[in-house]
Amino acid sequence: MAAADNDRILLSISHCLASYIAARLIRDLCGNVDARLKSVISATFHPHTWTIDEDELPCLACLAGPRVQSSRFEPIRERTMAQNIYDNADFFGGYSQLPRQTHGLAGAPEWPVVRGMIPDLSGKRAIDLGCGFGWVSRWMRENGAASVRGYDVSTNMIARARADTNDVAIDYVIADLETLELPEASCDFAFSSLTFHYVEDFARLSRTVHGALTAGSWFVFTIEHPIFMAATHPHWIEDEDGRKTWPVNRYAIEGERRTDWFAKGVVKHHRTMATTLNTLIEAGFSICWVAEFAPSAEQVREQPALAEELERPMILMIAAQR
Ligand SMILES: C[S@@+](CC[C@H](N)C(=O)[O-])C[C@H]1O[C@@H](n2cnc3c(N)ncnc32)[C@H](O)[C@@H]1O
Repeated sequence: MAAADNDRILLSISHCLASYIAARLIRDLCGNVDARLKSVISATFHPHTWTIDEDELPCLACLAGPRVQSSRFEPIRERTMAQNIYDNADFFGGYSQLPRQTHGLAGAPEWPVVRGMIPDLSGKRAIDLGCGFGWVSRWMRENGAASVRGYDVSTNMIARARADTNDVAIDYVIADLETLELPEASCDFAFSSLTFHYVEDFARLSRTVHGALTAGSWFVFTIEHPIFMAATHPHWIEDEDGRKTWPVNRYAIEGERRTDWFAKGVVKHHRTMATTLNTLIEAGFSICWVAEFAPSAEQVREQPALAEELERPMILMIAAQR
């Protein structure tokens, strides 16, 4: 184990002990432990929760008196592992046959819009979050990026990306975006395509990306549209005139959604449009362009099946600047 890891664990253990002592003191002094403090303590003692803000301890003391700084007491989240459904053999087999994987970016109908949101990449250090087969990672290098690092939680996806890439300036890293840490100011462009709906803690990830980008850099990503993924059973419903409708329900009830797509129980995380935009703003980004995928008339002419995408937006596309 690296010395830095040792230091970090020792720091966390000392925080745990100090938190415990503080809790006992507060309980003895005040008779009761605030519920939020209990959640902080239980999260603190959870073996997977080793990363605790250094300034947390002084905050705990505030709970004893009336000067509670409630906004600072969001409960510490359990850092759970992502589902990693792309390493499920059935899922991976089905997903690999999609046009956007067999044909790459030419098979992704939203790509012409996304491409228009990407800034000049000349000389930039780019990251691709949830890079999958690496289609965009390679495109970014072909379009001027000095280097690209793709991150993905799936060993299947990373293995395929590595096999399809012959470029020493691109590397691929297996990493879970729920826990990803990135060095400060280490990149000049951040991209992600159709991955963030798998991420539960989007606020943490947004702050991580913001810290990793240099000032003025762009963050462009696509995500399943909340109108597309809100419903309990998302599927087309046809009325007597043959008009297709996509149900929207539980829109304001954010959180886990389970769907059957190539495998049973694929876990995604629904957030309203407002939450996604406000999360970026709270992380420090300026939102510069928002688009919702709808095929052009030409695309529908060439591929009539795309016409149903005019009924509701499936993909949300956002360009934000640090
Ligand atoms: C729909 S695919 C998109 C792949 C690629 N960006 C593209 O557009 O072709 C979603 C990708 O996100 C990855 N992914 C899902 N959850 C993740 C997580 N928590 N951390 C890192 N990658 C994740 C999956 O393994 C998968 O490769």
